[in-house]
Amino acid sequence: MFKVPPLAPQRLQKLLRAMPKAELHIHIEGSLEPELIFALAQRNGVPLPYASVEALRQAYAFTNLQSFLDIYYAGASVLLHEQDFYDMARAYLARAAIDNVAHAEIFFDPQTHTARGVAMETVINGLHRACEDAHAELGISATLILCFLRHLSEESAFEALEQAQPLRDKIVGVGLDSSEVGHPPEKFARVFARCRELGLHLVAHAGEEGPPAYIWSALDVLKVERIDHGVQAVHDAALMQRLAQDRIPLTVCPLSNQKLCVFPDLKDHNLRQLLDAGLCATVHSDDPAYFGGYINENFTQVFAATAMTARHAYQLAFNSFEASFASQADKRVWEHRLKETFERFAEHD
Ligand code: ADE
Ligand code: ZN
Repeated sequence: MFKVPPLAPQRLQKLLRAMPKAELHIHIEGSLEPELIFALAQRNGVPLPYASVEALRQAYAFTNLQSFLDIYYAGASVLLHEQDFYDMARAYLARAAIDNVAHAEIFFDPQTHTARGVAMETVINGLHRACEDAHAELGISATLILCFLRHLSEESAFEALEQAQPLRDKIVGVGLDSSEVGHPPEKFARVFARCRELGLHLVAHAGEEGPPAYIWSALDVLKVERIDHGVQAVHDAALMQRLAQDRIPLTVCPLSNQKLCVFPDLKDHNLRQLLDAGLCATVHSDDPAYFGGYINENFTQVFAATAMTARHAYQLAFNSFEASFASQADKRVWEHRLKETFERFAEHD
């Protein structure tokens, strides 16, 4: 591994923003800023239970995951047409490029849209076209991961998969999200087995609020390649060993964990502990429009709160490329750019 020089705190904060990185945990519906929610509500004639952008923002005071999800699904109800999905994803990708995101693997929740009568192809075609345009116009690489809502049934997940099959080439994998506690990974064993047969990459949210047992079953029953969040793993030493040994990536979202009260304060976040235990942790934004910051804000705030070093920064960015589903050739290009950025910062320190 490249020997990372130490940096003064202010210089490190600048480097965190400048370094290339991959965004592997972003729910596209969680990138809907209140202004865009109101603009789309007006465009589509969808009534909102909030009088203004400010009133909506004021409702963003969450006590746990469910208190957030209720507002998040209400916000997503303004999305009706292909152009709406395009506009949302195109806006996100423009914002991500500013944070030096080289590659994004974007989660989307189709069941929350199909339940309102929106066709699967409307959702996927809008998002996919935005990914293609952003690549052509901004140079950012972007792919899509279809997430099943775990509070819904196995039957509903199979129905979503069936609807997505004709658009198989426009998604790189599947995930599992929404209300975690009471909806263990096992509930979706057969759907994930089918997705594996189809050659889709597999990820799942586990150990955000739920117990380490959910991380074990995401790995051993669903056979996922990455765990989203996974911060509860620290309560199980054998699990920590497994995650380290198999280099299973944990896509960690510090500001989300703070806003949903997973940790009492950002200074109590266990990201540094995960890295220092040899796990392949990465940093991401989850639902940036709701949690007060995009990926760079997650990096700078968690580093400031937990006194991590330039070595941690390099490791996190490197891990994000390694953990991605991009080609080996793309990974090597981004990792080379990462090393160059660190060398440039060290020379001018
Ligand atoms: N959907 C959007 N954000 C989520 C989160 N943090 N956990 C589970 N499901 C989600
Ligand atoms: Zn998430």
